[in-house]
Amino acid sequence: MLTLGIETSCDETAVAIYHARDGILSNAIFSQNQIHKHFGGVMPEVASRSQLEKITPVMRAALESAGVTLADIDTIAVTTGPGLPGSLLVGLCFGKAVAWGSRKKLVGVDHLEGHAFSSFLEHNVPFSHLCLTASGGHTSIHLVQDFGDYQTLGRTLDDAAGEAFDKIAKLLGLPYPGGPAIEQYAKSVGFEDFFSYPRGKTGTLDFSFSGLKTAVLYDLVDRGAYDMKRRVLLDQSELLKQQVASSLLVCIAAVFERKLRLALSQHPEVHAVTFVGGVACNKYIREVLRAACNDRGVEFFVPSPQYCTDNGAMIAFVGTYRAQRGQVAGWNLDIF
Ligand code: KG4
Ligand code: ZN
Repeated sequence: MLTLGIETSCDETAVAIYHARDGILSNAIFSQNQIHKHFGGVMPEVASRSQLEKITPVMRAALESAGVTLADIDTIAVTTGPGLPGSLLVGLCFGKAVAWGSRKKLVGVDHLEGHAFSSFLEHNVPFSHLCLTASGGHTSIHLVQDFGDYQTLGRTLDDAAGEAFDKIAKLLGLPYPGGPAIEQYAKSVGFEDFFSYPRGKTGTLDFSFSGLKTAVLYDLVDRGAYDMKRRVLLDQSELLKQQVASSLLVCIAAVFERKLRLALSQHPEVHAVTFVGGVACNKYIREVLRAACNDRGVEFFVPSPQYCTDNGAMIAFVGTYRAQRGQVAGWNLDIF
């Protein structure tokens, strides 16, 4: 059984082909990072126009690289949300048209469920496990008991972790997306905690990162490094950027570690943890969480970087298991 997975929820146009027995056959992607870096963040209107331009060539590339044709495909799986409406609509309408025109099954996939199963693309992950999702739009901890059986233990009350990296990187004049740049700058000063940013509330599995951005800003103002009125960074030295980046990364990693330890103590029945989403590309956070899991005697799984950030393979994987259970959609399938 072959599934073609389409992911267009934000600024990546991604199509992958997944075989129920053999796994990933191809994973094509066009990233709009080069377009949005001029704006320091994703411009929704620009994102949806680019999705429209790229969706056909990206699907052709995925089919070609897998060595199959549309005739070989059984199921079209497409992300229906959450995401940017314009971007989601391009993928959904395209997926529906292909499925209708070539008589395929159509399956709608939740973007977060896709991320949650991205760790299954390369590993045999046991149930039940805890899934920590950290991306540009979401930060959450779920108890995953089976396919389709999830319980939200905690989620962000405001900004996502990736958003905090992106916004603070912008404040420092670092390129979009901010996560990779922050990691690079932090590495150059050995991941030290220079400024001890606040770690937020203890005793809860919910996250809050909007206060962190404000704390970084006011700390820079107190140091005479930022002019609030003119909104300009006065101290443009590489050293300051490295110190802020390093303190920020250590702070966010410490928040994740604390939440994970709390969740594990509340769920002793769990023997594995997965860490997924774009932020899971971060090697420093991976190692902090891996060490915490080793400490608890719990297995730790993290996908390769290309399956951490948005991709079609994770959507095709979920589409495959849903189609196998007969959970196919009608033509009234919509975005949310
Ligand atoms: O999963 P993703 O591709 O898109 C969403 O669903 O949001 O995640 C993108 C986010 C961005 O905020 C980006 O800054 C962050 O993942 N990211 C990282 C790293 N690479 C990407 N954050 C921290 N460290 C990284 N190395
Ligand atoms: Zn995502």
